[in-house]
Amino acid sequence: MLAIAPNLAQEEGVTAQRKFRLGILGSGKGSNAAAIADACASGEIPGEVVLVASDVENAGILERARARGLEALYIAPGEFRAKVDETAEASFIQALQRAAVDLVVLAGFMRILGGGFLRTFANRVVNIHPALLPAFPGLEAWKQALDYGVKVTGVTVHFVDQGVDTGPVIAQETVPVLPGDTPETLHARIQEVERKIYPASIAALARGEIRVQGRQTVWKRV
Ligand code: GRF
Repeated sequence: MLAIAPNLAQEEGVTAQRKFRLGILGSGKGSNAAAIADACASGEIPGEVVLVASDVENAGILERARARGLEALYIAPGEFRAKVDETAEASFIQALQRAAVDLVVLAGFMRILGGGFLRTFANRVVNIHPALLPAFPGLEAWKQALDYGVKVTGVTVHFVDQGVDTGPVIAQETVPVLPGDTPETLHARIQEVERKIYPASIAALARGEIRVQGRQTVWKRV
């Protein structure tokens, strides 16, 4: 059981002077990272992206970050296909600690992070999943939904725990599966929703409006 999560904003002493610091990890094109950076720039998120890091050297997420003048870092993932090795994990931890992040935001990060990483950033790692968890965890969730034949799928923002896509749910939104949908059309509509629900969830976390009690997250509506 998770203990009640600290009020992140209060614990980190977010003030008008000190913004909530986000470190984003991703392996792909970076549309979520871009939406989050936009939300910081517009003030929707009272925070700033202080580091973008990737396990893929030529990932779009790093190019997009550099184009925005954000710190963008490639860290070689090591010998495994599905997870980062110990050396890589230590490098990710070091980079995020050096950047003094308040929250680690996984945005299409395709390798599993180990217990050491999650203990270092306990209750401070969030992820976005392109399905309504607990349905369709794992890879290509939009394709799994289409293959299964569901009429409704969606998006889940959740805290990250040791399992694959099993942590407490922060927010969910539905996306209908339409007749004639292909994996590409469905994923594109899911991603439109992701680019709204993820910044909104991070904004609430930055304002200290979300607490975890066991498997439940409680939103303080203001
Ligand atoms: C998103 O669909 C997210 O749900 C999944 O990976 C994808 C990342 O896309 N975990 P992008 O790199 O943010 O465009």
